[in-house]
Amino acid sequence: MKFIEHIRAQAQGRQKRIVLPEAEEPRVLLAAFQMQEQRLVTPVLLGNPAAIQKAAQHLSLDPARFEIIAPEQDAAFAEYAAAYFHLRQDKGLTEKQARETLRQPLYYAAALVRAHRVDGAVAGSMHTTGEVLRAALHLIGTAPGFSLVSSTFEMVSPDNRVLTFADCAVVPDPTAEQLAEIAIAAAHTHERLTGEKPSVAMLSFSTKGSAKHPRVEKVQRATAHARTRQPDLNIDGELQGDAALVEYIGSRKAPGSPVAGKANVLIFPDLDAGNIAYKLTQRLAGYQAIGPIIQGLAQPMNDLSRGCTDEDIVNVACICALLS
Ligand code: ACO
Repeated sequence: MKFIEHIRAQAQGRQKRIVLPEAEEPRVLLAAFQMQEQRLVTPVLLGNPAAIQKAAQHLSLDPARFEIIAPEQDAAFAEYAAAYFHLRQDKGLTEKQARETLRQPLYYAAALVRAHRVDGAVAGSMHTTGEVLRAALHLIGTAPGFSLVSSTFEMVSPDNRVLTFADCAVVPDPTAEQLAEIAIAAAHTHERLTGEKPSVAMLSFSTKGSAKHPRVEKVQRATAHARTRQPDLNIDGELQGDAALVEYIGSRKAPGSPVAGKANVLIFPDLDAGNIAYKLTQRLAGYQAIGPIIQGLAQPMNDLSRGCTDEDIVNVACICALLS
């Protein structure tokens, strides 16, 4: 079964409620229709009901089939605004600003996730990654035991092999401790989405001390941190890309490594490396890039590319359902 079909089939069995805060956008409405028709997830539309209904009718969709929440008309608006104010008053947020901010569907979607009225949120067809992340950071926050939000891309080869790349979209220059946290979160994301046991390679331009440099030492320290935090994690580093992925090179450069030659989770030392690597793999090797999939949040809020199709939105909603 193709990776994305596997994701859709699993989502179908969970029947999660996913809120879509960009519901006036035609691609989002078409995606919501497909989610409902195929019984993948239950979409909850967020925004101005009149505008959503008009946009739905324009697409010949019956708006009555959808649950629509209008932030300001929602009975819980005042309660969520008060909760948001309490969360961020020490950062200088006023009660008036809290109410104004929650009128924005992106923030209200995060508030609905926080309140467990929905299982997750999917946004980003009309907003940047930074805007989606900021709403999630302000209202949902990090998962217990985590202090960092980061991301993965699921890279699917033409013959359906799945590699998890991290971090490719959020943390520009992680410390060794943050890199360890990215690795632990990415291993969890990989296992959750693919069902495979993760083999995590901490990538560098050096394999097992072949080069000496502070940047190599950072990856070595990150590997040690991750092992201390999660002793049962199958992780090794520092490894070069070829040693991580190619069996005969791995056995020569890192003999005895439990990961070399069979890595399925690749952790890049910084955002330059991760972002460049996923785009090159996509463009030169013909892999499908699914993401960024946000990880490290207490509850899922997933991002879309602004160039996404309605099909991409359905896929990300199914991923969101699996991560909830
Ligand atoms: N994990 C956990 N907490 C974080 C993180 C993080 N990664 N980043 C910021 N925070 C915290 C901040 O410290 C702040 O904490 P505080 O409220 O206790 O002070 C809180 O979250 C809110 O932060 P803001 O100041 O509102 O947001 P900030 O300006 O720090 O921006 C953001 C955070 C949006 C994640 C930013 O780092 C960003 O834009 N990252 C890059 C996103 C991007 O453009 N990626 C590349 C394109 S995507 C692609 O190519 C597919």
